Amino acid sequence: MAGLIPQSFIDDLLSRIDIVEVIDSHIPLKKTGREYNACCPFHSEKTPSFTVSPAKQFYHCFGCGASGTAITFLMEYGRMDFVEVIESLASQQGMEVPRRQCQSSGARQTNQGLYDLLEQVSAYYHQQLKHNRTAIDYLKNRGISGESAAEYSLGYAPPGWNNLIRDQGMGKRSGLLKSGMLAKNNNGDIYDRFRERIMFPIRDRRGRIIGFGGRIIEQDAAAKYLNSPDTPIFHKGRELYGLYEALKATRKLKSFYVVEGYMDVITLAQSGMRNAVATMGTAITQDQMKKLLKIAPEIVFCFDGDRAGRSAAWRALESALPVMRDGHMMRFLFLPDGEDPDSMIRQYGKAKFERLAGESQTLSEYFFNYLEADINLSTLDGRSQLARQAQPLLQKLPGGVFNDLMLSELAERTQLSAERLTEITLPEQKSASTKPIRTDLQKKTPIVRHLITLLLQQPTLARLAHDIDDLPQYNLPGTTLLAELISFLQNRPNTHLGVILEHWRDNKYGTYLSRLAQYPVELEEHRLEAEFTDTFRQLGKYHPLHPNRILEKIKQGFSPTDEEKNILRQPASDQ
Ligand code: UTP
Ligand code: MN
Repeated sequence: MAGLIPQSFIDDLLSRIDIVEVIDSHIPLKKTGREYNACCPFHSEKTPSFTVSPAKQFYHCFGCGASGTAITFLMEYGRMDFVEVIESLASQQGMEVPRRQCQSSGARQTNQGLYDLLEQVSAYYHQQLKHNRTAIDYLKNRGISGESAAEYSLGYAPPGWNNLIRDQGMGKRSGLLKSGMLAKNNNGDIYDRFRERIMFPIRDRRGRIIGFGGRIIEQDAAAKYLNSPDTPIFHKGRELYGLYEALKATRKLKSFYVVEGYMDVITLAQSGMRNAVATMGTAITQDQMKKLLKIAPEIVFCFDGDRAGRSAAWRALESALPVMRDGHMMRFLFLPDGEDPDSMIRQYGKAKFERLAGESQTLSEYFFNYLEADINLSTLDGRSQLARQAQPLLQKLPGGVFNDLMLSELAERTQLSAERLTEITLPEQKSASTKPIRTDLQKKTPIVRHLITLLLQQPTLARLAHDIDDLPQYNLPGTTLLAELISFLQNRPNTHLGVILEHWRDNKYGTYLSRLAQYPVELEEHRLEAEFTDTFRQLGKYHPLHPNRILEKIKQGFSPTDEEKNILRQPASDQ
């Protein structure tokens, strides 16, 4: 992105806009002390946990964890992409966005081409559906209404190996290949991937078609469902089928049903539950859960009652733990063996389905039910087994009230004190800590992380750092980023967090920085300087020419250079 619009322009734009004004024009903010707050627009809540800091030009919600700059806010709230946000902010400021011709604008062009192409392919499949009796009858038999078919843009891929090129023209061949609509076999033959299938276009959050799922009509064919492969615009682990339609139907969603199939999404929507989404034949990822929790605080996972469903459910729970923040609610609904949401609703109706969902197990209930299934809690062995299995899982939870409650629940069930529980070390952790490198890293990382956190909170601290050119050579992870950050800030004495986050937005460090920005150091402003200076001094111990580092090297069998020998001969300093 930075390649398309010069970074200096974005810096300049950010220095002219005020995040408080930007957000306040969408949701009214209330001043409280130095910050502003409001009820979070990204999840539903009754008491405000969404705060905006004018000094940092940064917003953060303590409830759902949403955070970012004015630009992030407009991307998330206004559902615009980065370039659209920059263009709209610039025009409000009367500024013209300079363009640079480069690779990434080329990539943007081809991606735009792919979206347009898939839109045309979908129109073609939709047209084909209208003319195919078998496909229409199939959908009718499954109870899909004409309105639903139109709303979800259902289509039909006719028989034949060469329909798409015939329809779109030879000029579209490479685009069709790139978007996964054409497949290539070992002989190099190129052919239509989807044939004789009901087609479900998969849209991203903004409604652009990014891929397809296709279902066979005849039961005896190969795979029942076929999905587009991952492509430059389609990443199965990030997208959710039905999300766009759910957002379009309801502005403020309170909860989501996560189901397994496309048909489940459509049947639920058709019976008035417009908040169902599905993964594309893969286990749900943390990315997908976070995406949903930013919009609504509750997720009800629906699983088949069979063994596959149960193991999928436990995997979902394990990935859910780290994203489970206070204010979030997750439920696990197990349907009777052999049923899925689609068949349940057709057989028993919406009311029954909703009642089952309302009675389904919460994350904490499911957690203990699952772990205790084969454990006898009336024995000491059983309780110790539960403690050993539960404790490492609970450590994945972010700190907060929910974490505390789960720990006290576990304490009650095992009759161990919460303190004793937190002391339990697991076999896996013990074996990891016998590997010296791991412990070494674990001890060292906090220094660099702490310095970065301090800089994000108070960018002017960068002036207190010196000799940063050597930092990347330190025997310590994160020092390259630290050096870059300090040098960036030393060149911009009057900057703020918003500018930093935008500068690193598309960089591999971007997410790391925005995560650290959410957890400021609780210190009064005047103490921050001393904290930074002290911590920065401690870094000196990791300089490759610090006597301790040289001695370490010698212990590992390396022979010291003359320079290193000289340093060791000098009287010890307190560096
Ligand atoms: P199911 O087998 O549960 O199918 O697959 P379903 O959704 O109930 O389908 P109907 O009701 O028979 O039409 C659930 C999901 O798993 C993926 C698809 O995304 C499907 O919607 N799947 C399933 C595949 O990717 N490939 C398959 O062969 C089967
Ligand atoms: Mn089904």
